[in-house]
Amino acid sequence: MLYESVFHHLRGTKAGEILDRQHLQIKRKHQDVRTAILEGGGMERIIACSKDLIAATRAHFQSEERAMDANTLRNFTAHREMHDDIIESLQDISNDLEQRRISGAMELMKLFESRILYHLDIEDAALERELKS
Ligand SMILES: [Fe+2]
Ligand SMILES: [Fe+2]
Repeated sequence: MLYESVFHHLRGTKAGEILDRQHLQIKRKHQDVRTAILEGGGMERIIACSKDLIAATRAHFQSEERAMDANTLRNFTAHREMHDDIIESLQDISNDLEQRRISGAMELMKLFESRILYHLDIEDAALERELKS
């Protein structure tokens, strides 16, 4: 399992490669939601793609948190708090999607463009540098 191997390669380039691959998968899923909305893909498809994107994002944060847990020299408190904030926002969106509110997908796109993409590109890059050092 891809996520499990993060534990075993914490300091090498391997962990970074896995996390980078997860970033690419998340970005692809983000594009899938955008495309579904822009093409008028229908409620079912938009909701399914949105849930898939949220699941991938949560799983990725868990991978990073395991990598942080395994580094006993630091606690990475600030980075964990960023994840907690984002997860809290994602939970509200998940609730909307569970109730089949299409507004959840719009909120998800807003959150990605205003917050999550920045986290993946900038804040996670800083984390990866720290994990390697
Ligand atoms: Fe990341
Ligand atoms: Fe992160």
